[in-house]
Amino acid sequence: MTGAPTSAGPTGDPAAGPAGNTAAGTAGNTAAGTAGNRAAGPVGVAIVGCGTVSHQYLPTLAGYPDDVRVVVCADLDVARAAEVAAKYGVPPATDVPAAITHPDVELVVNLTVPAAHDAVAADVIAAGRHVYNEKPLSLDRASGARMLDAAAAAGVRVGGAPDTFLAPGLANALRAVGDGTIGTPQSALLIMQSPGPESWHPSPEFLYQAGAGPLLDIGPYYLTALTAAFGPAARVVALGRRAFAERTIGSGPRAGTVFGVQVPTHVTALIEFAAGPVATLVMSFDSPLGRTGLLEITGTAATLALPDPNRHRDHGRILRLGDTAWTDLPVAPGDEDPHVARGLGVVEMARAIRAGVPHAASGERALHVLDLMLSIMESAERGEYVTVHSTFGPAAG
Ligand SMILES: NC(=O)c1ccc[n+]([C@@H]2O[C@H](COP(=O)([O-])OP(=O)(O)OC[C@H]3O[C@@H](n4cnc5c(N)ncnc54)[C@H](O)[C@@H]3O)[C@@H](O)[C@H]2O)c1
Repeated sequence: MTGAPTSAGPTGDPAAGPAGNTAAGTAGNTAAGTAGNRAAGPVGVAIVGCGTVSHQYLPTLAGYPDDVRVVVCADLDVARAAEVAAKYGVPPATDVPAAITHPDVELVVNLTVPAAHDAVAADVIAAGRHVYNEKPLSLDRASGARMLDAAAAAGVRVGGAPDTFLAPGLANALRAVGDGTIGTPQSALLIMQSPGPESWHPSPEFLYQAGAGPLLDIGPYYLTALTAAFGPAARVVALGRRAFAERTIGSGPRAGTVFGVQVPTHVTALIEFAAGPVATLVMSFDSPLGRTGLLEITGTAATLALPDPNRHRDHGRILRLGDTAWTDLPVAPGDEDPHVARGLGVVEMARAIRAGVPHAASGERALHVLDLMLSIMESAERGEYVTVHSTFGPAAG
């Protein structure tokens, strides 16, 4: 099947795209002898973590049978894995290690909660398989860096969500940043405000613990898109607040259960990018007003309103200097593909593995976005600028 995920990152990113992801990329094709190195055919995939988001990935992956084949799924909760297996016609594994070492598995899609990302990824890498992680990559910089180092040593790849910057509409809008359409990029405004996810998520506790909160849970979509537009961030200054010490589950079998909030739930930050532009960010679970998907990039010649970076649909709009109304950007080729959704990055990674080229939703980029978010949290705690030391792209390779 031909389809939306292209290996090319948005051209708007000076460091994005295949050339921007060298470390884990090419190394991923050198580990002869592991299951991660078949020459042709769809890449065999294991799903580890059969919770809420697995119901988004499995239909996407089923839409690209020439590129990926989900051969097994697993979860610590065996009954949950069996339920997902029955629903999507994927055999369940007896346990997680059996899924990871399944002889037909080359790539493991790690859809566990953030606190488990590191340990699961470490087991996958030790088994000689490639790993694609949901966000955030890990809970802290050191374990994220260990993950990438271990993968490089094992000759396997690390990929990381989010993958929305590969969606045709967002990629097309990002291209307008890099190709001069908006003039010289100057600034960005990114806002996500909501009352929080506990109204709809049946197990929302992890979303209020280390590794989540509005910044680490939702920020990756906005910040990954911004790094695709501007390249790596250089320094940040931020403030944080927490409106409620406890929250109540609003749906599912545990509705009514009260749980504690362990992280700031309103974060506001200023970010300076190494290439010069600056961004203003608000990420909040403390707002009765729901306002999501506001991501605007301003250059000397125009302002660009990008599609919601937490979604895979829609196209951007542009307002040029002197205009009084927005103009829609053209619909991007591939936008009609009904399978374009969460999991696109796995398909793109599988294609890159077969083609022997670097993949776009790379571990390096995911680690930089994690570093940027942790720097924002540290700035909010300490009340001072924090320098962002990591980078991605050719310089990180
Ligand atoms: N829920 C969403 O809409 C959504 C959207 C995008 C991304 N994500 C990301 O996806 C990941 C999972 O989120 P979710 O909402 O599906 O969570 P969830 O709690 O619904 O599901 C997580 C699953 O992982 C399993 N698990 C936990 N530790 C494990 C381990 N060590 N080995 C195997 N299985 C393990 C749990 O039993 C559970 O079934 C998170 O990183 C989250 O940020 C979620």
